[in-house]
Parts: sequence; structure tokens; C-alpha cells
Amino acid sequence: MKKIDVVASATVYDDVSELPSNVQLLMNKAIEARNNAYAPYSKFSVGAAMLLENNQIILGNNQESAAYPSGMCAERVAIWKAGSDFPGVKVKQLAITASSSISKVDRPVGPCGACRQTLSEYEINQKEPIEIYFMGEVGKIVKTESLLSLLPFSFDSTYL
Ligand code: THU
Repeated sequence: MKKIDVVASATVYDDVSELPSNVQLLMNKAIEARNNAYAPYSKFSVGAAMLLENNQIILGNNQESAAYPSGMCAERVAIWKAGSDFPGVKVKQLAITASSSISKVDRPVGPCGACRQTLSEYEINQKEPIEIYFMGEVGKIVKTESLLSLLPFSFDSTYL
């Protein structure tokens, strides 16, 4: 028996003004997307903006349903839009932001487990890391160099 360390590293920015200007732009697009979220039940709006290698920016936001489990997260709306409209085009960066009409979201909101799994499929296929930046409505932004750094011991097609 031996113990191993599973290490994830991230960069933390104090606020949006610290981000490189191209990432600020992407985060502003994510905010735009967040403002169009359809989240009448949770009141929790999430926006995602993805930069593709062809310079297209793909937006997604959460879409809820009165039949709650039928809703969908912002990140998966965005990645499936990208996969559907631009199959095979690599995703370079993903910016995520979340806000709530119930309380101020002042800490970074990372993608949920199901979104991480879905995004990992694309990162693995494109053989290039996707930089991920995530924040709340205000406050710090976390950056990870890849999706897989957020998903240790993940399941992938090699098991099938
Ligand atoms: N949500 C996202 O859009 N992305 C996440 O990664 C976490 C959660 C949405 C789903 C639901 O509409 C609302 O946030 C509350 O869970």
C-alpha cells in the first residue's frame, strides 16, 4: 500500500482587471451570456464563453425547466453548441461566471462534476488543454491550465 499525492494547481486573480485583456473580453462575454440565463427556479444564473481556435466565441447559459432535472448547465450548453456548430474545432479558453438574485455570489464558481466530465471528452479529443477561468459575480477569479486538472482519476473512453 502506498499513498500518493493528487495535486491540482491554480492561479487566483484578485479581480477582473488583473486578467489579461483578451480574457477580460471573454469574461465580459460570459457576463453577457449570464444575463440571458433562464433560471427562474434556482435564481442562480451562470454564463459561459468559449474561445475556439478559429476565433469564434461561443456563449452558453443555464436553461432551467419546471421539470427540474430537465434543465441544463451553462457550460454544457456552450460546449455542445461548439461541438454542434464547429465540430473538431479546438476550444482554447473557457470563462465562467455566476450570479444570484438571492445573494451576492462573491467567490469563484467552478463547473459542476457533470460539466467537468462532459468538457473532458472534448479536451481529450483535441489533445490540447482548455484554460478555464471561473468567478462568481464579483471577486476573485480562479484559472486552471486544463480541464483535466479539475478532474483527477476521471473516466474516459480508454475504459470502454
Ligand atoms: N449550473 C450551471 O449552469 N453550471 C454549473 O456548473 C453549476 C450549476 C446551473 C444549473 C442550475 O440551473 C443552477 O445553476 C443551479 O444549480
